[in-house]
Amino acid sequence: MPSNFDLIVIGAGPGGYVCAIRAAQLGMTVACIEKRATLGGTCLNVGCIPSKALLQSSENYHALLHGFAQHGVMAKEVGFDLPKMMGHKDEVVGANTKGVEFLFKKNKITWLKGAATFKAADTVSVAGQNYTARHIVIATGSESVPLPGVEIDETTIVTSTGAIALASVPKHLVVIGGGYIGLELGSVWRRLGSEVTVVEFLDRLVPTMDGEIAAAFQKTLAKIGIKFKLGTKVTGAARIDAGIALTLEPAKGGTAERLDADVVLVAIGRRAHTEGLGLDAVGVATDERGRVVTDGHFATNVAGIYAIGDVIAGPMLAHKAEEEGIALAELLAGQAGHVNYGAIPGVVYTWPEVAAVGKTEEELKAEGVAYKIGKFPFMANGRARAMGDTEGFVKILSDRTTDRLLGAHIIGPDAGTLIAELVMAIEFGASAEDVARTSHAHPTLNEAVKEAALAVDGRAIHI
Ligand code: FAD
Ligand code: NAI
Repeated sequence: MPSNFDLIVIGAGPGGYVCAIRAAQLGMTVACIEKRATLGGTCLNVGCIPSKALLQSSENYHALLHGFAQHGVMAKEVGFDLPKMMGHKDEVVGANTKGVEFLFKKNKITWLKGAATFKAADTVSVAGQNYTARHIVIATGSESVPLPGVEIDETTIVTSTGAIALASVPKHLVVIGGGYIGLELGSVWRRLGSEVTVVEFLDRLVPTMDGEIAAAFQKTLAKIGIKFKLGTKVTGAARIDAGIALTLEPAKGGTAERLDADVVLVAIGRRAHTEGLGLDAVGVATDERGRVVTDGHFATNVAGIYAIGDVIAGPMLAHKAEEEGIALAELLAGQAGHVNYGAIPGVVYTWPEVAAVGKTEEELKAEGVAYKIGKFPFMANGRARAMGDTEGFVKILSDRTTDRLLGAHIIGPDAGTLIAELVMAIEFGASAEDVARTSHAHPTLNEAVKEAALAVDGRAIHI
């Protein structure tokens, strides 16, 4: 096996493996170091993919119980088989991680198995062996943020990794943190029968989301029975016979209360993962949150060392990591790699889904940008009615003077797919008028996007 490469990528998550593949396509000799037994990183092994498998399975069950009767479809003795559901999830994960292994072979990328530690700016050690490269990319991802006083055991007090692998449906699941993970995995277990209480520090859910959408989102989650304790923090967890007794306090101070759970999911955010990498040995700078500091071209302060994905600043999303991986490989090959951070969508895969791209109303107000709003409810969309999925709306924000699209927010059926045309529109610098004048097939959910764009100018047809 060679010990010198054009490029060594540390970490085989969506940032790292995609960077490795693009660099190999561009003719570089590439090695990718991964300490996990399988490729694909957090995303494929314990993140995006397994959580979406469980969301889909639990959504199917929920629809059978609560959604199909309106279509005249009746089912008797409805039930689910949790081990089988978990088996499906594991199969999907296996197929995806094996798929990356196949792509590595296809692109002649060397997988170095083990944990990497920097020895010098151009040298890393893996399993006692040194490897050198002209360029080294740190793509080591993130890990969940711990909560002091609430010790994780991944069985009763879990992170997302434990929450996608529970052996039985908890009677009462308390989720600490009303963000992406808490609401997606809270939905999974609620649909499967758990009582679910979300304890959130702030007085609203998903702080990065448009406020109006977040309020609507909370209502839809409350409809499936999820309970919320907003403006509340957890200050302790004690193990009791029946599970865990949590101590809750109002975020702004006040009287403490006790809340018992049989499973607690800690989902208060993720932080850059650089442990054991030996960044100090080579002097790679990190910021106050432990993230590797990079310039606009993903270069760290040490020549030859770069970083991408969750380990650097920006949204912790798989497709953001992938875009960075591709852009960096192209930059290293002398091309013009670029990531448009204004056009990175975010999607919460509950049902209805919530999807967004660009600015929220709160951000535009804070920046003093004058904007117009167009909104259209799925209740007035023919296809949504036919589907029996009429909850939610599309909200489009455009510049008051130029009409250029500044942001788009959707809560509704398949919002994650619907947002794509608006991401594309923002990428192309389109106006709301451009979207409004584009023919949208009838009857589709996408017509709600067109109508919202028409509504920016007060001329929606179907409302
Ligand atoms: P990672 O995927 O974290 O990969 C880093 C890899 O580096 C890991 O495999 C790790 O083992 C390896 N590594 C670390 N240190 C070393 C070392 N020293 N030597 C060798 N290897 C090392 N994002 C979305 O866009 N959509 C979703 O639906 C979504 N769902 C999620 C659900 C959950 C439950 C979680 C936890 C996350 C989810 N995310 C989702 C976020 C997404 O998983 C991350 O943004 C993405 O995985 C980041 O990619 P990355 O390549 O930067 O890092
Ligand atoms: P998050 O940042 O989305 O949400 C964390 C929530 O916890 C916030 O609302 C925050 O106010 C709250 N919080 C913080 N400290 C708290 C405390 N002490 N007590 C109570 N609440 C507290 O983080 P989460 O859900 O852990 O997910 C991490 C990241 O993973 C996400 O930000 C996202 O980038 C990624 N992810 C993406 C998904 C997707 O794209 N569908 C799905 C899951 C994760």
